[in-house]
Amino acid sequence: MKKGDKGVPQAIAEFYKDYLVRMNAIDVEEQELLSSNTKKGWTQHLVRKSSLIREYHAEVDKGIHAMILPYISGEKETSDEEAEALKEGALRYFQDSLFDEVMESSVLRMLTGRYAKKGDRFEERKCRFAFANNAYLSAEGPLGEQSMAEAERVMEGMNRLREIRKEHADEETFLQDVRFIIETGYRLFDRECRQLEPDLTKLVRRYNALSNIEQYRDILPKDYCDECMRELRDKVGINVMFMQALHWDKVPKKRQAALAEVFERELSKEIDLPESERNPKLFMTYVLFAFYSGRFSADECFNLLYPYTKTLPEKVDFSRTSWYDFSGNDRFFAICLTTRPLLQMVMKSRLPKDGKQRKVAEILYDVKKYIETIPRECACRENMDYCLYHLLYDVIEFIDDEAMAIEFIDTLMMNRQLATLIHTIMTAKLTQAILDPLVDERPELFYRVLGVSSSEEVRSNKEDLALFMYNAARCHDIGKIRIATIINTQIRSISDTEFSLIRKHSEWSALILSKNKKLSAYCEIALGHHKSYDGKKGYPDEYDNRASKYRILTDILTICDSMDAATDAYGRNYTRGKTFEKVFAEFESLKGLQYNPEVIDFIRTHDELFAQLKEITSKEARGDFYYHIYRKYR
Ligand SMILES: [Fe+2]
Ligand SMILES: [Fe+2]
Repeated sequence: MKKGDKGVPQAIAEFYKDYLVRMNAIDVEEQELLSSNTKKGWTQHLVRKSSLIREYHAEVDKGIHAMILPYISGEKETSDEEAEALKEGALRYFQDSLFDEVMESSVLRMLTGRYAKKGDRFEERKCRFAFANNAYLSAEGPLGEQSMAEAERVMEGMNRLREIRKEHADEETFLQDVRFIIETGYRLFDRECRQLEPDLTKLVRRYNALSNIEQYRDILPKDYCDECMRELRDKVGINVMFMQALHWDKVPKKRQAALAEVFERELSKEIDLPESERNPKLFMTYVLFAFYSGRFSADECFNLLYPYTKTLPEKVDFSRTSWYDFSGNDRFFAICLTTRPLLQMVMKSRLPKDGKQRKVAEILYDVKKYIETIPRECACRENMDYCLYHLLYDVIEFIDDEAMAIEFIDTLMMNRQLATLIHTIMTAKLTQAILDPLVDERPELFYRVLGVSSSEEVRSNKEDLALFMYNAARCHDIGKIRIATIINTQIRSISDTEFSLIRKHSEWSALILSKNKKLSAYCEIALGHHKSYDGKKGYPDEYDNRASKYRILTDILTICDSMDAATDAYGRNYTRGKTFEKVFAEFESLKGLQYNPEVIDFIRTHDELFAQLKEITSKEARGDFYYHIYRKYR
């Protein structure tokens, strides 16, 4: 053995450990910052946090480039000890901290290939399972597609447990495999439940696939199957019923009658039980079924469901890193999945119009209050973020009042991603500064937006135009809450895979906005805000920003968006904010390509506007503004 060889595995293990310690130190600084009572204390922690992140970032990136990436890319041959250290790190790391699953998936994928080549079936399978079980998180990116495919392959194992048994010398390792397969099945089921529009047939298929375990009684320990089936019923079976009741209109007509019979026979008694004796999920299932199938009136269903879900216990331990799998009978589950039907019940109730609006506001207020109780730094936060994005998708169409819709979005951003909330307010402010003189002096730029053909008409609509721009800016990044942990929480450079997820956020913003009658007006602006002026660069690839009638507003937003990001000395993690002059010089060098040349020239030739934008983005003004937001929202 060459000198120093033994040191590499040790160094890899230490690297992983060190990384967690550093992340923890950042979290501590963040907590201190949030609880500071004076601006001085707050500023100190903010400055310290930024400098720590910069310092760590350089160190961590160095480590990743030296110790992880060469093995993932295949550039370096991996010795057995190194592979072991990488796996240990990736697997342990995964348990300690979910947020880095993309990096971890890359390690696992590399190891799977390595073990396959060596013919080490057991280790190969172990890594394959772990990789497959990441499918539920990264399922949107290219790596996610691979882990989804892997998860499906793992599930096929359920059909050939007899063969798999022969591959194992002892029962213990065989049972480990069985457990892995079952866990993978649970994850896949859970993942389908979380889809914005879940596929009921797939859910039933997943349940059936898992029930296949019964066929293998003869090769499994005594009582093993009964235990598995019991767990399966509690974790999956009840949820299959719940999801079918929740999406009753999607249950195939020919299955509805049989299912209705089962619900009536098995679940209707839940209604008559005293509250303390009810099975929460069965009770909720029956009420949903009764509502969607028209058995009971909307008012009756509402009166049964609303008070009941409000009293469900808060069982989620947000400090645990484990996956929240929706099999619990708790408030978080109820909030995520019954808010939408409750709002539908209100809309169908006999209440007068203003009574309905009051009820909707009341429900949303409860939800907001609940969201505020979820710790911002909770361990399983991707999980929470995705659920909350889902919740927003579910409820946004019911909020008629635009200000209320934006307020609801603010609550989510404030609790999940304060940095994005600050960014959107800053961007909105900048758009207002530009729009004001631009409408006065270049009204023709806005003819297309308003569908008018005279400067007078544009000027007389100035206020509406400004409000429209302001609200569009406030909503443009809402899609980011779905991937909050990738953005602004890293102390390392983001990977290509993560970047491919980030590139989705404009589409995700547009998807949410499209669900609301009023906010849907901002869809094109949100979709186009990362596309270059000439339409050639940026994302989404297939979206043509030049055809939009809101093009000028999108162009203004794009400029303000970059202006805020590039000058931000506090919110961005590892880049120092640049001076306004430097940023603007860059904008000028890209005018006509990245940025609208008319708007850039307009800013350049307007000293007052130039000074105003510089002032808004200055370190001092930003510091005051950030502190104000922190105080307001903490
Ligand atoms: Fe964005
Ligand atoms: Fe943005």
